[in-house]
Amino acid sequence: MCAKFYLTTAIDYVNAKPHLGHAYEKVAADCIVRARRAMGEDALFVIGADEHSTNVGKAAAEAGLSPQEYTDRMEKEFRDVYARLNVAYDDFIRTSQPRHHAAVNEIVRRVRENGWITTDQYTGWYCDGCEAYYTEKDLTDGQCPNHGTKPRWVEEDNYFFKLSEFGDRLLEHYRAHPSFIRPSARLNEIVAFVEGGLNDLSISRAKRGWGIPFPDDHEHVVYVWFDALTNYISAVGFGTDDEKFAKWWPADVHIVGKDITRFHCVIWPAMLMAAGVELPGSVFGHGFIYQRGTKMSKSLGNIVNPVDVVEVTGADALRYFLLREIIFGSDGDFTWDAFIARYNSALANDLGNLVKRTTDMTSKFLAGEIATGAGAGDRTGLAGVAAEVCERAVAAYRDFDLAGALTAVWDLVRRANQAVEETKPWALAKDEARRDELADVLAELLEAVRIVAHLSQPAIPDRSRAICDRLGR
Ligand code: ME8
Ligand code: MG
Repeated sequence: MCAKFYLTTAIDYVNAKPHLGHAYEKVAADCIVRARRAMGEDALFVIGADEHSTNVGKAAAEAGLSPQEYTDRMEKEFRDVYARLNVAYDDFIRTSQPRHHAAVNEIVRRVRENGWITTDQYTGWYCDGCEAYYTEKDLTDGQCPNHGTKPRWVEEDNYFFKLSEFGDRLLEHYRAHPSFIRPSARLNEIVAFVEGGLNDLSISRAKRGWGIPFPDDHEHVVYVWFDALTNYISAVGFGTDDEKFAKWWPADVHIVGKDITRFHCVIWPAMLMAAGVELPGSVFGHGFIYQRGTKMSKSLGNIVNPVDVVEVTGADALRYFLLREIIFGSDGDFTWDAFIARYNSALANDLGNLVKRTTDMTSKFLAGEIATGAGAGDRTGLAGVAAEVCERAVAAYRDFDLAGALTAVWDLVRRANQAVEETKPWALAKDEARRDELADVLAELLEAVRIVAHLSQPAIPDRSRAICDRLGR
């Protein structure tokens, strides 16, 4: 039986169309999953929609639709954009689905049964954009540190999750599993936060219609993060399909942005501990996509719509740029100039020319036939380079170093182009006595191209397919 690999991304708030930041996360996740599949692993890739947020409710009201009608419409929007980007997810979980409601009911039941839920009054700040509670000291000049808006003052009788009692167990888990939080820079941040002491967490809101009713108390709905985080287990059958759950859980990795790493590294594992459910293998906190150094935001009007980009260049060019240009885990910048420059140099020139030259010469000089058996060993030196590149790329993909994997593959592209210059097949073709040599050289070049196509497939699946077709493989 082959190894299983269960990967999730954040489920998006669907109060607006997906922008390049959302697209980046899904493309990176898709690349990781494709690489695992190519390595023979049995992978499950889940994305979805986080529907019960205050802002989703507001957007529905503004559109004059019920939240359900609105989110049905947005599901389609999100799926369309991700399809345009060749994001080949297996499942799209929505928090309004019955399977998800069942899972949330089950986790609340277990956490309560285990004694980790109390009631208390919540008094404090709440930011609708973050869907998070803030104390005075969390705020910057009285404003939400992420949104720069003034949070709402809330006074409510709520259910509380005794998060404060999980600090030591969380710290112990981070110590015992150093790769639980990746990249490691984020680990220090989280450890410092937990060491600073955790507060209990209000996990219900006085009922406002849209949300999952709190089990046994329908005057409240479940706090949207408690609800949303549970998607990772509801998607694999927690509370509805034990066999499926046993097959896929625990997740191997949750891919999420750095702004929500804390929810995933603190609240989520504590919830699972409280419910007696195994913890995921790791949480990878990727960086943010900026535009000329500023965060993309609707209010700044600098949102890049991924579909606009893909319309011009196709999905691969954007995927390549996002994956190669930005170190996965660090922040990155998207500008049209840099994007077009990269596209021209790496895809059109380096890769495009290599494929064209090698296949054209094979047609022209050998009538498209590769004479096998002529081989006198490694005439171009590419076999050795390819072996080393394979090893490096596979290790990098496994380690979520997507830029590293592509750098390795393009080393082979560069060396293969050099080999064309050095061996000069057009000169060999003029000399009848050197036919064998010509056949060997072209065979080796084509083999390098085939390996490039396979190794780059997780990042640029369309281009890879086209190359394989051209090679007749
Ligand atoms: O946070 N660059 O949803 P969301 C890179 N529903 N990534 C970005 C980004 C940017 N400019 N902007 C957003 C939520 N993201 C919750 C998640 S999970 C149980 C619930 C990333 O729509 C962001 O970091 O605000 C997150 O991982 C994802 O897009 C969805 O963001
Ligand atoms: Mg957000």
